[in-house]
Amino acid sequence: MEMVREHRKYVVPEIITGDDARIYAGRYASNFHSNTVLLATDESIFRQKWMREILQGLDEAGTEYVVFSDIEENPPRDYNVMAGADVYLSEECTGILAIGGGSVLDCAKGIGIVAANGGTILDYVGVDQVRNPMPPLICVPTTAGSAADVSQYAVIRNADKKAKNIIISKSLVPDVSLLDTVPLMTQPKDVTVNSGIDALTHAIEAYVSNGASHLSDMMALESITLSAGFFPFSVDRADDPDSRFQSLMASMYAGIAFSNAGLGLIHAMSHAIGGLYDLPPMELPVQS
Ligand SMILES: [Fe+2]
Repeated sequence: MEMVREHRKYVVPEIITGDDARIYAGRYASNFHSNTVLLATDESIFRQKWMREILQGLDEAGTEYVVFSDIEENPPRDYNVMAGADVYLSEECTGILAIGGGSVLDCAKGIGIVAANGGTILDYVGVDQVRNPMPPLICVPTTAGSAADVSQYAVIRNADKKAKNIIISKSLVPDVSLLDTVPLMTQPKDVTVNSGIDALTHAIEAYVSNGASHLSDMMALESITLSAGFFPFSVDRADDPDSRFQSLMASMYAGIAFSNAGLGLIHAMSHAIGGLYDLPPMELPVQS
């Protein structure tokens, strides 16, 4: 592995991994002095049985929550972010708990930016345009691909221009990511495959990026090794907790790698095409 001696920055959130890691959401909300959190999620996820332990944890921590689930996908629309920021401010929230896939996590980041900085979310498109730090952000990802829960990236759709816009800032690194196998078991099978390909692409693009460093290379290579262990994806293995956890770790390693090293041509093309045609980051035909 080549050592890069040019200057490199490397940021990661606090990360807890393992079965039932989600139960720490309440404790972290309390640690962050978030008396009321905006619970960004989607309706189907909010109805999952495993959500009960999260809500119970918030209750035990004395933290109120306000649900915001008006979030579209691939990626969240700019107006979803603005609606969420309105709820955040009007309900006087003091933190965000994001539980969902990449769109939910990106929307939560957008809400945090607008709540702390005002204006519209499109004002912050680009690199290092976010002046004030976001409110505390706790993430529980329910898919293993976007890795928004460990990255300094957010992708927001400019609805008028039909374009995926990218916001990059250290402020967007969540405070804590709770990587739990249990919510991941509810990830739909086609999403499992598309997300897995997305994660593998993150790792490869980060490894060959000009912005790579020794630290990001270690993460990228570990991610590729893990992905190789469960490729080619079999939808039959989607119910195996060990495979799911492995895919979650592969996604996390790839996310840390690309968050710090940057991405490449495949994502540049997928953002342009996906923005125009409203498509997910990566998509493969899935046979069930
Ligand atoms: Fe991606």
